[in-house]
Amino acid sequence: MTDTLTPVLTANWGDDRSWTLEAYEARGGYATLGKAFAAEPDAIISMVKDSGLRGRGGAGFPTGMKWGFIPQDNPNPKYLVVNADESEPGTCKDIPLMMASPHTLVEGVILSSYAIRAHHAFIYVRGEVTHVIRRLQHAVAEAYLAGHLGKDIHGSGYDLDLVVHAGAGAYICGEETALLDSLEGRRGQPRLRPPFPAVAGLYASPTVINNVESIASVPSIVANGPEWFSSMGTERSKGFGIFSLSGHVNHPGQYEAPLGITLRELIDLAGGMRDGNRLKFWTPGGSSTGILTDEHLDVPLDFESVAAAGSMLGTRALQLFDETTCVVRATLRWTEFYKHESCGKCTPCREGTWWLVQSLRKLEQGEGTEADLEVILDQCDNILGRSFCALADGAVGPITSSIQYFRDEYVAHLTHGGCPIDPAASALFA
Ligand code: NAI
Repeated sequence: MTDTLTPVLTANWGDDRSWTLEAYEARGGYATLGKAFAAEPDAIISMVKDSGLRGRGGAGFPTGMKWGFIPQDNPNPKYLVVNADESEPGTCKDIPLMMASPHTLVEGVILSSYAIRAHHAFIYVRGEVTHVIRRLQHAVAEAYLAGHLGKDIHGSGYDLDLVVHAGAGAYICGEETALLDSLEGRRGQPRLRPPFPAVAGLYASPTVINNVESIASVPSIVANGPEWFSSMGTERSKGFGIFSLSGHVNHPGQYEAPLGITLRELIDLAGGMRDGNRLKFWTPGGSSTGILTDEHLDVPLDFESVAAAGSMLGTRALQLFDETTCVVRATLRWTEFYKHESCGKCTPCREGTWWLVQSLRKLEQGEGTEADLEVILDQCDNILGRSFCALADGAVGPITSSIQYFRDEYVAHLTHGGCPIDPAASALFA
């Protein structure tokens, strides 16, 4: 546990020219390339394994282990794909990272591609964020001109091409196999796993897909060594991460800290709750991780402790809601999002999210009986674990957890004939 921030990825965000190659190199950017090219690719994989870095896109899969799955005896090309399709409700760390420090990501791409022996890499960015796409394209062009990308990078004999690819604005395309279909030019829908992308990914070839923050963490690990990284965090959740605080807190924003920091500490760093109000509920990692309450303020924000509390660390998208917020309405809004974004490939998700919206909408308007709560929980039970990908599981999370912690508030909607909270006070959901 710690109360100290560790600005590494966010270290240069205060500099309004941080995104330029000149500013990045002035701070030592791209200095790791020489060190990496002097070593064997496997040595870079070992460094990342030893650092304990786990995927920062939500699932927390060990990054070095994923790289180690790439079969080097497969004659097909190997690919690196950066998942920059950040879309989970509340998740907003990768976009500021790419805006402020695109070269950290590009440097990470070069190191990671070298490690897995890939000569083609892609950054798949969500289509709505045209400003981020432009910034990345600019950074990639600068990196080519400086010789950090292209043929025979700095005389190393290593070639790498990097393409920035814009999606078309579908949440499902953040699911790694749907992303691959989209990148190949098809409609983005998830593929059956296994095979995992490490074995058969882009164009059926071995592919590493990692989140932006995971790849952007690699240059600091190569520069400072794996022990430096693993000295931070907790026993099984090593290093630091960007915690995104949003909602009813005085200073919402990005707080980079070691894994294991608590929400209580983060709220203090963020100037406390708005108007001195009480925290009512919050998401540890975007809405798909479900909600926790003020009972969980001292849960260390690491993968194991949040799982033990019945949720998931996910993307560390901490959405904070105070006592003026209607939990039923918040849950309905999230469920509408998942229904809208369901790709329609599998029935439990396509039909299930539609039914969940109907049922929740009825309850939110104060119609029905308490027995409808059991119907909703039954619907959730019939969706969880039965859909093609994690989207529908994520849709169920906020519903089951909000009924678990706030059943009384659902019942109050029925007895009150609608929301018992004064709508004028509930500004966020007005
Ligand atoms: P997952 O746990 O199935 O897989 C995680 C990663 O490990 C994947 O890259 C997968 O290919 C790899 N992997 C797992 N087992 C493997 C094996 N045996 N061999 C080779 N590779 C293996 O999780 P998934 O479904 O990829 O992602 C779910 C997570 O995504 C959720 O935890 C959620 O927090 C997060 N998420 C993030 C969003 C965002 O905007 N950043 C949006 C929605 C969800």
